[in-house]
Amino acid sequence: MRLCTHRFGCLLALVCFLSVTWIKSPSDGETTVQPDMQNLYERLLVAEKLGGMISTDLSRILEQLRNISRASNITQLTRNNTNTISITKETTRQPMGDSGQQTFLLPNIYIYMPHLRQHPDSLKPNVVVGQGRRGVSMVLGIPTVKREKQSYLVSTLSSLLFSLTFSQRQDLLIIVFVAEADSDYVDSIAETIRKNFPKESQSGLLEVVSPSQYYYPDFSSLEETFGDTKDRVKWRTKQNLDFSFLMLYAQDKGTFYVQLEDDVVAREDYYNAMKTYAYQEASKQWLFLEFSQLGFIGKMFRTRDLPMIAEFFLMFHRDKPIDWLLDHILWVKVCNPEKDLKDCNEQKARLKQRYKPSLFQHVGLHSSLSGKLQKLKDKDFGKQTLYRAHSNPAAKLSSSLKHYQQHSLERAYGGQDFLWALTPVKGDYILFNFTHPIHVSEYLFRSGNIETSGDKFYNTTVEVLPGNVSLQDKTAASSSPQHTADNGFIVIGAFENGLASGKIGEALQPISALQLVVHSDSDVWALLSEIFIKV
Ligand SMILES: *[C@@H]1O[C@H](CO)[C@@H](O)[C@H](O)[C@H]1NC(C)=O
Ligand SMILES: *[C@@H]1O[C@H](CO)[C@@H](O)[C@H](O)[C@H]1NC(C)=O
Ligand SMILES: *[C@@H]1O[C@H](CO)[C@@H](O)[C@H](O)[C@H]1NC(C)=O
Ligand SMILES: *[C@@H]1O[C@H](CO)[C@@H](O)[C@H](O)[C@H]1NC(C)=O
Ligand SMILES: *[C@@H]1O[C@H](CO)[C@@H](O)[C@H](O)[C@H]1NC(C)=O
Ligand SMILES: *[C@@H]1O[C@H](CO)[C@@H](O)[C@H](O)[C@H]1NC(C)=O
Repeated sequence: MRLCTHRFGCLLALVCFLSVTWIKSPSDGETTVQPDMQNLYERLLVAEKLGGMISTDLSRILEQLRNISRASNITQLTRNNTNTISITKETTRQPMGDSGQQTFLLPNIYIYMPHLRQHPDSLKPNVVVGQGRRGVSMVLGIPTVKREKQSYLVSTLSSLLFSLTFSQRQDLLIIVFVAEADSDYVDSIAETIRKNFPKESQSGLLEVVSPSQYYYPDFSSLEETFGDTKDRVKWRTKQNLDFSFLMLYAQDKGTFYVQLEDDVVAREDYYNAMKTYAYQEASKQWLFLEFSQLGFIGKMFRTRDLPMIAEFFLMFHRDKPIDWLLDHILWVKVCNPEKDLKDCNEQKARLKQRYKPSLFQHVGLHSSLSGKLQKLKDKDFGKQTLYRAHSNPAAKLSSSLKHYQQHSLERAYGGQDFLWALTPVKGDYILFNFTHPIHVSEYLFRSGNIETSGDKFYNTTVEVLPGNVSLQDKTAASSSPQHTADNGFIVIGAFENGLASGKIGEALQPISALQLVVHSDSDVWALLSEIFIKV
């Protein structure tokens, strides 16, 4: 802006200069009047031409001025209705036209990444799964890349979704950012996610997004710095670009943004813990909250800070790894170079707050940098509750399922473990035969746990055997949706999304036995993490 006024000043000076020379010119030669008139006429023509040039120049400058003020108004990615982001800064491309030298004036993604100019769509995100959800409290960003070894993405997502309540699901957006230009690979990930999480994809809770194929620069000409190999420099440079893109994509979708990785497991209560802590600390000055102590896992930012952070990463994307850059932002913001390191660390500590216990644990062993083994574990993650104990009435237990290792039905029923059984097939059952018919008011069976969230009971009913023999024959179902199974058992419920729970009516009491019956072959093992028979 300042240079423009400057420029405007220069033009004024030029205009003045021209008028002065014009006024001065007749005095040049008093003796030859006739040629002077000719001269004057020519000069007039020149001045007229210059005046025209100046006026077009002026209007161009005014337009640039408008463009620049508009751009500085919105120095971030904005999203249009069809899920497209465009960089409004784009309008400042070559702000000074052919004079060129002023382009340093404004922050500009095209300066850091000149190759983006070559294609108009280079900044357009490719939204493969998504309903354009916005306005949530928390946005989780999960960058994922092609791994040569095992992929943990599905179990990471299962773990994040495992214990969410209905209202939490409404107030969350999980963005899977497939950081690959290979569209077949991106589509295959989208397909996997749609297949494994149909409801979440449909509701807009889960999104799958990838960058434009024109986003990445040619990585072959990077400088090797800090003793990093060529491969590592490429990996860390791409990571900077990926995280920045994801942050810019996420910045207008919610209040807080949490960066995760594609190979983590979450604590069961992570959602409430993060949200509560963020709002509790909202009045403080932090730049980020840390919910894990590993690398970039579980770092929470205010979405309004994301444009600044992403721009910083982009500015230095070739120079350093992302965690160093993040630390440098803190340094730039609060460290006084005239004071010592201790003071700097104290100042920086105010801008980042650690939450304990850690809410995310790293599970992957293979880093996305091929060949690198990633063995870091978060010591503060603690032990997860993998089962919930209840005191259950005395019963004789039996099952056609074969359990794995020590994870037996007896230990699960006694509250010492979970039951983990090999793949159930049609007709498999678990029977709780009470020593005496008893009054059972409620029941709850939860399958899967946070670490093995997919091992649920599917197409499995809960059935009771009333102690009153006359009820076993008569169909109590005539008056209700219950119906009688072959052997006198009455179906009172079924597993839905891994959970079966409900009350048992007075009419069926007392109960002499309760059983779970599997009605179709399963693809996965079955895990019971909670058995509660309330008397
Ligand atoms: C200003 O922006 C408009 C579009 O927003 C563009 O057409 C025009 O060329 C820009 N002007 C200059 C001088 O950059
Ligand atoms: C910039 O934003 C302010 C406040 O939002 C607004 O009043 C002004 O018109 C905007 N300027 C331009 C050039 O868009
Ligand atoms: C959003 O972007 C798309 C693709 O560039 C374009 O077709 C559409 O008209 C834009 N919508 C708005 C509201 O600007
Ligand atoms: C429950 O145990 C009793 C006593 O062992 C037995 O008579 C009865 O048949 C069992 N009930 C079922 C449904 O297996
Ligand atoms: C068994 O059920 C029948 C029919 O509901 C009822 O008439 C009878 O009193 C019940 N017997 C006992 C012992 O509860
Ligand atoms: C559950 O099992 C029954 C009996 O095998 C079968 O008819 C039904 O289609 C199954 N339901 C589902 C949802 O798989």
